Amino acid sequence: MKNIKMEKLAIAGGKPVSVKQLKPMDWPPRDKATAKKLCEVYMSGKWSFNGTEEQAFVKEYAKFHGAKYGVFMVNGTVTLQCALAACGVGPGDEVIVPALTWLATSTAVNQIGAKTVFVDIDPLTLCLDPQKFKEAITPKTKAVIPVHLYGSNADLDVIISIAKKRGIFVIEDCAHAQGGKWKGRGLGSWGDIGSFSFQQSKTLSCGEGGICLTNDEKLAGLLYRLKHIGYAANTAQGKAASGPPAGLLCNNYRATEFQAVILRGQLKGLAKLIALYNRNALRLEKQLAGIPGLRVQARGRLAGPQSYYGWAVTFTDDVFAGIPFSSIQKAMTAEGLSTWGTYGPVYKHMLYNLPKNSAYRIANGKCPVAEGIASSKTAVLPHPWLGSDAATIDLIARIFAKIAGNADALRAVK
Ligand SMILES: Cc1ncc(COP(=O)(O)O)c(C=O)c1O
Repeated sequence: MKNIKMEKLAIAGGKPVSVKQLKPMDWPPRDKATAKKLCEVYMSGKWSFNGTEEQAFVKEYAKFHGAKYGVFMVNGTVTLQCALAACGVGPGDEVIVPALTWLATSTAVNQIGAKTVFVDIDPLTLCLDPQKFKEAITPKTKAVIPVHLYGSNADLDVIISIAKKRGIFVIEDCAHAQGGKWKGRGLGSWGDIGSFSFQQSKTLSCGEGGICLTNDEKLAGLLYRLKHIGYAANTAQGKAASGPPAGLLCNNYRATEFQAVILRGQLKGLAKLIALYNRNALRLEKQLAGIPGLRVQARGRLAGPQSYYGWAVTFTDDVFAGIPFSSIQKAMTAEGLSTWGTYGPVYKHMLYNLPKNSAYRIANGKCPVAEGIASSKTAVLPHPWLGSDAATIDLIARIFAKIAGNADALRAVK
């Protein structure tokens, strides 16, 4: 990309890259066929209890990801809690979680009475650093939750092989990875359990919802009991033939037929949507390659296609030192593009309201990479931006390049 430095920043009175504020693709998708089906389910009066829509969705979703079993639930936080409980994690156990994630990954651990151990991330993929995971293992470590963050994925080869040797359960947090693949098979089907969220902003969305995938029949059975107040899989409501194993604290986390209908509709288009996201992410990456000051989040090793809950770019200190992220965001908005910031380390989040010494531990006392990513400047474009047409994608690339080429001018803007 040429001559970007010659263009005056819009925030300093120059011509913006886009006069109109750019807009992402409308999200979530709505269509008439799904609306009709929702009405039919409504009129049928069969709204819950593992109905035909739920059963069909679970089968289709598990198959899409190369998993044998799926258990559908109300959200992607309780799926994590149930995954941990099914693996036998409880009070006195430690669970390793990457420091950079949405806080639900950790609060699920605390909800079941275990202790979160935060471990630092890889600076390129922004996912759990496998070496640091290894170093943080103690005799109390019962599980690890690698999070496949934004548009990348954790290095499952290394993490699973370390975990297997130490008898540690692997629960993949795939809240950002619906439909994403690794070594040609779906994320969420590699660890002991994969946990997904279908909350409003996700790449597959029904407002609120979640699912656990697994290839382990026993874990699938426990997950089902956990979410359905103790009923065994496929027993009809009111017809329990056997109770849950002693100590399994079962609850009601059932989702409804309406959510399953919406997800089934979207699942049909998921592969195509992800292919488009991957094409546009590549188009952006190519245009920004080699521009000093910009580091696009690295794709997961052996991954593809990726799901892209978001597309993340770090403004690196070699060019942007001393410039607050708020100034970068203001300058980008003036050029026509609004971006999110990234998560910070969970333990610094204002909503992470836990008594420190008992509920969590930070491996080595701090996670400098995760802290650096948050305070150095990382912009995230939510996935609907990757559904834009080629002209919009090129304008987005141009805005990033223009900001990177004008860091000195940005420093001077008050
Ligand atoms: C990484 C991660 N894990 C877990 C969750 C929890 O999902 P939910 O909001 O469906 O409870 C989210 C949701 O945003 C998330 O981003």
